[in-house]
Amino acid sequence: MAIKEVVKHPAKILTQKCDEVTEINEEIIQLLDDLYDTMVEYDGVGIAAPQINVPLRVAIVEMGEDRAILEMINPTVLAVDGKEVDIEGCLSFPNLFGEVERPTYVKIEACDREGRVYEVEAVGFDARAILHEIDHLDGVLFDSKLIRVVTEEELESMYLEEEE
Ligand code: CO
Repeated sequence: MAIKEVVKHPAKILTQKCDEVTEINEEIIQLLDDLYDTMVEYDGVGIAAPQINVPLRVAIVEMGEDRAILEMINPTVLAVDGKEVDIEGCLSFPNLFGEVERPTYVKIEACDREGRVYEVEAVGFDARAILHEIDHLDGVLFDSKLIRVVTEEELESMYLEEEE
């Protein structure tokens, strides 16, 4: 277990383009495990390496109904389609939530921890989470894409409505 401190905005490392991983070694495996432990501890659905102060192109997201962990090393976006506005948050912005427009579909290519190249497609919130994390690797933060800030009161009333 290695829960890391999450780097909060503003911080230079969050706005820099991260470096490609050139070799998948013990350090990268440890980084993936640290990202997972940190994401779970702080209740995120995704996290990128710069958020734990490592400027490398590595990120993870929870995906699908079973919330499986997608590990992305050097991800690239192959295709996007559609447009949808939905609410996002970010572990680096503890009290900021708001509406962001993103594609509804994404196809990416990335490496897994065994060094295998894979392709994966995602839609809806999974696509949103993947694109949010890949943005982090390019130093792009969701506050730059916010079209409307959503207050905590609004969020709470939305969740209450969903539960009813
Ligand atoms: Co984020």
